[in-house]
Amino acid sequence: MKNIRPCFWSILQALALLPTMALKDSQMTTKRFSEEPEFERPIGNHTFFLGREAVLGCAVTNLAKHKVGWLRAEDQTVLTMHDRAVLGERYSVSLDAPRTWQLRIRPLRAEDRGCYMCQINTQPNMLMQSGCIDVYVFGKKFCVPPRSASC
Ligand SMILES: *[C@@H]1O[C@H](CO)[C@@H](O)[C@H](O)[C@H]1NC(C)=O
Repeated sequence: MKNIRPCFWSILQALALLPTMALKDSQMTTKRFSEEPEFERPIGNHTFFLGREAVLGCAVTNLAKHKVGWLRAEDQTVLTMHDRAVLGERYSVSLDAPRTWQLRIRPLRAEDRGCYMCQINTQPNMLMQSGCIDVYVFGKKFCVPPRSASC
């Protein structure tokens, strides 16, 4: 009996410590999940050839449970949600590992010129950034609206 008692006490002490340890653990978990997503770099403005493929990349860190969507800026039409294209065959989305969500438009049409928004469904305010596409048609450059001085 004498030998069991110290062991018994250390078990009791361990039990007393458990809630504290659990609390610490949940605080760490909360902290990890409360890190908000961020854009890693701007999408930028890019020029692509008519009839070819246009690719815009949206690099996101700490996405966690959030989802990335691509929208056409002009009319806020949703083009892709997470890993699915939701508007027609010309649009697709691919994840360039580890964390760049690429909007692909193919074949590119002249009317595709304009700006596109990458959106993250954070609450209460969504995060978004945009980048624009110019289209080269037979050596002539169509400019994103409105026509800029370089066109
Ligand atoms: C991209 O183009 C848009 C529209 O013309 C313009 O407002 C924006 O400043 C440009 N961004 C960069 C980084 O050049």
